[in-house]
Amino acid sequence: MEGLPSWELTRRQRCDLELLATGAFSPLRSFLDRADSESVCASMRLTSGELWPVPVTLDLPGNVVDAGSAAGAVVLRVKGSPLAVLWLREAWQPDRVAEARAVFGTTDPAHPGVHHLLHQTHPWYVTGRLEVLRLPHHPAFGALRHTPAEVRSLLSERGWQRVVAFQTRNPMHRAHQELTIRAARDLDAAVLLHPVVGVTKPGDVDRYVRVRCYQALLPTYPPDRVLLSLLPLAMRMAGPREALWHAIIRKNHGATHFIVGRDHAGPGVDAGGRPFYEPYAAQELVRRHEAELGIGVVPFRRMVYVEELRRYIPEDEIEPGQHCLHISGTEQRRRLFDGAELPDWFTPPEVAAELRRTWSATGRG
Ligand code: ADX
Ligand code: MG
Repeated sequence: MEGLPSWELTRRQRCDLELLATGAFSPLRSFLDRADSESVCASMRLTSGELWPVPVTLDLPGNVVDAGSAAGAVVLRVKGSPLAVLWLREAWQPDRVAEARAVFGTTDPAHPGVHHLLHQTHPWYVTGRLEVLRLPHHPAFGALRHTPAEVRSLLSERGWQRVVAFQTRNPMHRAHQELTIRAARDLDAAVLLHPVVGVTKPGDVDRYVRVRCYQALLPTYPPDRVLLSLLPLAMRMAGPREALWHAIIRKNHGATHFIVGRDHAGPGVDAGGRPFYEPYAAQELVRRHEAELGIGVVPFRRMVYVEELRRYIPEDEIEPGQHCLHISGTEQRRRLFDGAELPDWFTPPEVAAELRRTWSATGRG
């Protein structure tokens, strides 16, 4: 390793490397090469034919690529400490506008995934054999961090036959809770709460605060039917393609089912206020590939709170004369930042208490 050029990974790259190293991105073993990357963009498949919807590539500046090509490898570091050696086999300058169009369906920089791709990635992609030296160290919430193999063995130790995984990047609100409770009941399954703590959408609630909210909510589940584990994924907010990716990742963790609700991994709206994706496009794409994915899809319509019933139901079950209340995750964040009230029908009291505690502790409340 002495004398090899080195590269300090960005947070996003560190997340990708960790999930490659642990097998969360199986069948991928390294960053995609050019043929696979272009194949993924064009057809959501690797050149082998396997489904893979999102390019996982390593971007570097030209001077590091030059030094790496001359030396044959680049050492990948976090805070100076080496994590892996990438034995360079290929380096190319991708057409990032074409990638944006293929993966995100748009080149509009109001889309956070597009913005990152077009304005925050280095011009070269590189790949080769990845020699992992160690996994990144996570001092916070170590007990909630597991590799996919560790999750799989925890699930089998508990003897759970069916496990439904739930993805989120928000403090869980009642609609989220309702999705997991209904899915578990309908399938007679245990729940894998599998929130993303890597990179999420700009403006999201701080991940440490969110983890304390998930911990606070845990006692509301039957203790022998729930596992909370943190996923260090760097989200792309790619909507439909991202949902498919999430399903593959959860399958790799041993889940048998995966919840996909309304606007899964949605990037928000464009400059004209229009959503980038249809609210059920993600769900439909995953359902179309359900058999091939080998994980069951648990689709949900938008859950809304019906005042007359004092509970959440799917939007399409509302009857004439019933009134529904709804606030979005975005609105929840706005209320938090403004110190406004979080109504009980929306935010579970356990979560609201944790959010308020954090906000007053940081002087925001
Ligand atoms: S994200 O990964 O999709 O960005 P988010 O926390 O917003 O995370 O949503 C987590 C999951 O819950 C997704 O599957 C989403 O589709 C689903 N979801 C969130 N809110 C609702 C709702 N009100 N009704 C139905 N599904 C929902
Ligand atoms: Mg959402």
